[in-house]
Amino acid sequence: MTGSIPLAGVIGWPIAHSKSPLIHGHWLAEHGLPGQYVPLAVAPDDLAGALTMLPKVGFVGANVTIPHKEEALRLADHVSARAGRIGAANTLVFRDGQIHADNTDGEGFLANLRQSAPQWQPASGPALVLGAGGAARAIVDALSHAGVPRILLANRTRDRADRLAAGLDARIDVIDWSEISAHSGAAQTVVNTTSLGMTGQPPLDIELACDAGALVTDIVYAPLETPLLAQARQKGMMAVDGLGMLLHQAVPGFERWFGTRPEVTQALRDKVLK
Ligand code: ATR
Repeated sequence: MTGSIPLAGVIGWPIAHSKSPLIHGHWLAEHGLPGQYVPLAVAPDDLAGALTMLPKVGFVGANVTIPHKEEALRLADHVSARAGRIGAANTLVFRDGQIHADNTDGEGFLANLRQSAPQWQPASGPALVLGAGGAARAIVDALSHAGVPRILLANRTRDRADRLAAGLDARIDVIDWSEISAHSGAAQTVVNTTSLGMTGQPPLDIELACDAGALVTDIVYAPLETPLLAQARQKGMMAVDGLGMLLHQAVPGFERWFGTRPEVTQALRDKVLK
């Protein structure tokens, strides 16, 4: 730092659609803090150069998104245990000439459930997780560390689910995609991490058979009420939308860069939804 105001941003390619500048800008204004958070369009070949230069021009850290999450982890000097397990970084802190990499997706996922469904008890039974991409990896890791006793994992391409299960030290049973409805009856927590249900995509084809006390959540947040969540609500299950995960995963980075722990409020949700 040169004495100028702290800078942070989100590094991606492309980056124009990112909601992160809106989220962090809201918190900076809300708390009256000096600082700026900007979108940073960085092409894949330029990531290493950008990570060398940004700390020298006043950046205290950055979020990283597609397609840089894995490469950012490789370029970091220090990797948190959870980012190492997940194999991807979404939050970087630049300190004393070193890059510290973390992954806050799982923490954001859990914080959203705790805020939106305080009655939810992770240890109450198995979870069914649909999908095997980067988000699924962070969520399976978080569920396992939160005390979920067993995770049923299904992905259209089964091989990817097998590889995810083999790479994490958690009790994971991979099931066939065709069996998700049948297995949902055993689950106390159901999580969709696929893009199914998103505007323009087909809905997730599942017949939920969980108890009324079960929790169903989606990482899709456009629309906010996906067909999966509508079905869960209609069957009396707890339903939690995916917008909160996006907002909560931003909290730890903001706190580290700008020194204040921000809150995820209805005003912030409304602003991001507009
Ligand atoms: P992310 O890192 O955000 O999780 P991703 O790696 O692209 O994104 O993963 C997307 C997930 O959605 C995958 O689990 C994908 O299944 P495949 O591994 O079989 O591709 C899943 N997905 C996308 N479209 C799907 C569809 N039409 N039916 C079922 N699953 C789908």
